Amino acid sequence: MNFQWYPGHMTKAKRAMQEDIRLIDVVIELVDARIPISSKNPDIDTLANNKSRIILLNKSDMADPEFLTDWIQYYENEGYLALAVNAKQKSGLKQVNALIQKACQEKIERDRKRGILNRPVRAMIVGIPNVGKSTFINSFAGRACTKTGNKPGVTKGKQWIRLNKQVELLDTPGILWPKFEDQTVGQHLAFIGSIKDELIQSTELALDLIEFLATFYPGVLADNYSLTEEKPKVEILRQLAENRGCIQKGNEPDYDKAAFMLLDDFRNARLGRITIERPAKNGG
Ligand code: G4P
Repeated sequence: MNFQWYPGHMTKAKRAMQEDIRLIDVVIELVDARIPISSKNPDIDTLANNKSRIILLNKSDMADPEFLTDWIQYYENEGYLALAVNAKQKSGLKQVNALIQKACQEKIERDRKRGILNRPVRAMIVGIPNVGKSTFINSFAGRACTKTGNKPGVTKGKQWIRLNKQVELLDTPGILWPKFEDQTVGQHLAFIGSIKDELIQSTELALDLIEFLATFYPGVLADNYSLTEEKPKVEILRQLAENRGCIQKGNEPDYDKAAFMLLDDFRNARLGRITIERPAKNGG
């Protein structure tokens, strides 16, 4: 399957982010806890060079709890501060503040030595579309925050949200586009619904998901759709279509409809908490 993205938007967004990052002390990057590698755009490593870095594994409520700690460990080994969060239910967010302070310890210390006390650190949220950036900003900033407005010369045109005495957050997140030179990355992004459905052959994608689930989460398909898993994937999709009444003219199974149903169930965690990508145990 070949996936395309929109280079025009990408260049513009990247340029805007380059500008914004100059004003920032710490870059808080959201990735999807179900695909923590494919939902991370490697360009940010160059863009955020020399900045403190935090990785938040968002949508952790939909990810398999078994792998969350492994992923945190993986990113810590890579030199990030990492945490699992659920921006929608606001869980894990309190710890983010402490993490920001930790990430900016050196800067705070440097300021203190220069006699600059209580200068808030400046943070920015970045991530691919749909990873939960806006939800995170709303949840994290809460109601108590105040927009600080523009400070002439320093933050021209930028809106900052004063979170507390120590932290200011740029109110517009940086959008990174997924990078998928590797087709597996495209497939994983499509599984979680981060690629427009018009660009995808849903039946083919659903067959890939069936293969993944039957291999790594045996029993999930059988339990949710009352079907037999020990069959070829097309046969599994046919059973799913029949058991869920996805039938078209001529009493034939409607594979497309069944495919959409399966993808939608997976994307909304109706099949349970499932993680597509697993870190290698050696941290590599
Ligand atoms: P973006 O700014 O990065 O593009 O993402 P946005 O915040 O718009 O979030 C995209 C979708 O992901 C939203 O769902 C949002 O509610 C959901 N979401 C964000 N964080 C979490 C999380 O930690 N857990 C879960 N389960 N979902 C999360 P939506 O379907 O677009 O809207 P709605 O269903 O919330 O109305």
